[in-house]
Amino acid sequence: MPSTVLVGAQWGDEGKGKITDLIARDYDYVVRYQGGNNAGHTVIHGDKKLALHLMPSGVMYKDCVPVIGNGVVIDPGVLIKEMAMLQAEGISCENLKISCDAHIIMPYHKDFDGADEKRLGENKIGTTKRGIGPCYQDKVARKGIRVQDLLDEKIFRLKVQTALSQKNPILEKIYGLHTYTVEEICDEYLPYARILKPFMAETAQLLNEAVRNGKSILFEGAQGTLLDIDHGTYPYVTSSSCCAGGAATGTGVGPKAIDRVLGIQKAYVTRVGEGPFPTELSFPEDGGTGQDAIDGELLCSAGHEFGVTTGRKRRCGWFDAVIGRYAAEVNGLTDVALTKLDVLSEFDTIKVCVAYECDGKTYDYFPMQQSVLFHAKPVYVELPGWKGIDITGCRTYDELPENTCKYVEYLEEVTGVTMSIVSVGPDRDQTIMRSW
Ligand code: IMP
Repeated sequence: MPSTVLVGAQWGDEGKGKITDLIARDYDYVVRYQGGNNAGHTVIHGDKKLALHLMPSGVMYKDCVPVIGNGVVIDPGVLIKEMAMLQAEGISCENLKISCDAHIIMPYHKDFDGADEKRLGENKIGTTKRGIGPCYQDKVARKGIRVQDLLDEKIFRLKVQTALSQKNPILEKIYGLHTYTVEEICDEYLPYARILKPFMAETAQLLNEAVRNGKSILFEGAQGTLLDIDHGTYPYVTSSSCCAGGAATGTGVGPKAIDRVLGIQKAYVTRVGEGPFPTELSFPEDGGTGQDAIDGELLCSAGHEFGVTTGRKRRCGWFDAVIGRYAAEVNGLTDVALTKLDVLSEFDTIKVCVAYECDGKTYDYFPMQQSVLFHAKPVYVELPGWKGIDITGCRTYDELPENTCKYVEYLEEVTGVTMSIVSVGPDRDQTIMRSW
């Protein structure tokens, strides 16, 4: 199996979990390269659905090594709980490897995340409040605490003390929040160190050796292209490099070792949190009216569009080919897995946004200025649907209704990328492998 980056091509929640779960068994290593427990996806285990936030999906397969790369930020309490949950379900975590260079989410990171959002008021980002942004902030400012610091109690204490000398005054004086003592934090974190120590590894070396030995790696992206710190809708983004390039920096494996970049695109688009979303169909509670509000509600209910991590209702809209083309470029997509196609079986006709209009100008590419994206009016092409035909039982492309195939092929035409996998339902077997 060629080493592959699996990357969200929209604003996250594209159905990466199902596709990773489906293909992970074909790889020797499955590696998370960015983000933290802001991510969340469900994997199917027997007749149960399990929610994973930090653990790479490879954990579900005993011959696969799950790796948490250096680009990830780790909340150790959350990771330990997740390991316990998996073990209680009979899933062994003994193969797990955790990069010693990954940064640790500290309690004050979570406090700052919540307090910053409150301070921003109307301009908030809509974060998951898991401390992700503040942890990456410390990493870039060279003030972070890493997994390897847990290995030496003296160093850990010293780093916590240094951090608190800066964090406590801000917590207290700027935000009016409680402060921490070194003891308090050590009491919580040092026991984590004892549990996690056996899993800590030099993961870059391990993965490069795997590449030399002809092993295959699946780089499991979290969030999505439009939430990438550099290529997303900044500042309404997460704080890491979600795009395919992040797979190299977030693991220490050079880009030449990557053979394939599989983008995951939903047959429509959703986003959680704030920020521009040109094809959004506003819900009635957000001021939406008419057919658009009806279509938005229908996408949300038929697609079960509620966050795994936060339970929030996701904003919904039609497929956006401008974004599709942009994602293809910034990630160097080789092919795409199109997910949740069955959700569109509810509609008489289906719209696809092929360009934006703003101030009398047409944009068929991702606009340079964010304000254009905020005010962009989508230019739609309306395609006939396949309403009432249940496609969830289709297992080959030929079995799909003619209009469904036309929709898929139209998306290929307007995004310029082949759709090698088409998903027609939540279960593993509800998948059409066209050219995998
Ligand atoms: P943060 O990652 O918690 O800092 O949140 C920043 C932005 O990314 C917010 O708009 C979140 O809703 C969004 N976000 C973070 N993780 C995910 C995810 O897994 N799926 C979709 N959106 C996400």
